Amino acid sequence: MTLTIAIDGPAASGKGTLARKLAAHYHLAHLDTGLTYRAVAKALLDASQPLDDEDLAVSAAKGIRLETLDRAALATHEIGEAASRVAVLPAVRLALVEKQRDFARQPQGAILDGRDIGTVVLPDAPVKLYVTATPQVRAQRRFDEILARGGAVVYDDILADIRTRDARDMARSDSPLKPAQDAYLLDTSEMTIEAAFAAARAVIDIAIHDCKQD
Ligand code: DC
Repeated sequence: MTLTIAIDGPAASGKGTLARKLAAHYHLAHLDTGLTYRAVAKALLDASQPLDDEDLAVSAAKGIRLETLDRAALATHEIGEAASRVAVLPAVRLALVEKQRDFARQPQGAILDGRDIGTVVLPDAPVKLYVTATPQVRAQRRFDEILARGGAVVYDDILADIRTRDARDMARSDSPLKPAQDAYLLDTSEMTIEAAFAAARAVIDIAIHDCKQD
C-alpha cells in the first residue's frame, strides 16, 4: 500500500525530528520541504540579490535538485529568516510545490513536512498531522539546542524571532500556515519527543488499519 503522510507546523515545533523518526519507522522516503525554501533563499543571499526579486527567486527554485539539498549548509538562522521571506512569493511556491509533489509520488508513499503540506501540496494525503507547541516552549527548545552546541544566545531574542516567523508564515496570502481541516493536532508543549512519536504512530497505525479494511 501507499502511505503518504503530511506533517505541518510552525518553526521549532519538533515536526522535523518527528518526521525523520516516522520515516525511519515506516521505511518511507522523507522530504523536509523547508529545505527547498531555504535553498532558494541561500541562492539569492550567495548572489547578493534582493529576496523579493520574484524572477530570480523563481529561476533559483526551478534549479533546485532535491537530491542535493544539504541540511547542514542550510541550517543557519539567517537562511531560515530569508526562506520565510521568499516563501511569500506565489511563483516560487508554484515551482517548489511541483517538485514536492513529484517527490511524494513514490510507490511506497512518503513523508513530507512543512507549512502547507496538508492544505496545498498533498490535500488528499490519508494522514495529516499538525504539530505545534507554545511559542515559549519552542523558544526554550531552540535556546537549549544552541546552548548545547556551545553557542551564546538570548532567550528573549529567540522568542521574538519565533513570533515574527509565525506571524509571517501564518499571515501570507498564498498557502498560509494553518492546520488542514482533517489534520490531527499534536500539541507537544508538554510532551517529550518519544511521547509525540508514540502519539503520531497511533494515528498512523489506525489509518493503515482502515486502509487495509477498505
Ligand atoms: O521549516 P523551516 O524553518 O526550514 O522553513 C523555513 C521557511 O520556509 C518557513 O519559515 C516558511 C517556508 N516554508 C514554507 O513556506 N512552506 C513549506 N512547506 C516549508 C517551509
